[in-house]
Amino acid sequence: MPEPTASTILLTADQIQRRVHELAAELERDFPSALDLHLVCVLKGGFVFLADLVRNMTRPLSLDFMAVASYAKGTTSSGEVRLVKDLDSGLEGRNVVIVEDIVDTGLTLNYLQEILRARSPRTLRTAALLSKPSRRLVNVPIDYVGFTIEDRFVVGYGLDYAERYRNLPDVCVVPTAEE
Ligand code: IMP
Repeated sequence: MPEPTASTILLTADQIQRRVHELAAELERDFPSALDLHLVCVLKGGFVFLADLVRNMTRPLSLDFMAVASYAKGTTSSGEVRLVKDLDSGLEGRNVVIVEDIVDTGLTLNYLQEILRARSPRTLRTAALLSKPSRRLVNVPIDYVGFTIEDRFVVGYGLDYAERYRNLPDVCVVPTAEE
């Protein structure tokens, strides 16, 4: 696996920060301060996005974390989604926003939306930093999308390849074997 280098940057840290600022403003507009707002971060990939998103928001909010496993090792989906860590608190009557790193086939998000909807939140929305619509296997609603990208495997800004590269400030393309 070649190391991602400057030449493989898809989205710079500056571009990401500007877009995250806009998404935070959209969320604050859609959920005025009088309304409760509860963000559910999907680990591990969503942690950097969540951290930047909330630091761009001044309104009161609460957070929780859940972890799912949808990929074995490498860049191929196993198609299987498994709940690894559940939320600490209930969602009944709350305005919940799922915070995801990337929506690829949509299987993970579809699964998450189904299990969270069953917990009777008042509203359930989703914010995803990245979306790869050409890979979609299920039609899943995403209310806030940072960037729509081509079918490339990306790392950085929370996203990993075999648990590496999550700390890169930019989103980089991982070259495939043919590249
Ligand atoms: P989906 O279920 O196929 O939509 O996959 C969602 C999950 O797969 C994401 O939350 C990521 O953890 C992982 N994933 C999908 N595409 C990429 C990528 O390009 N880079 C890193 N992780 C990815």
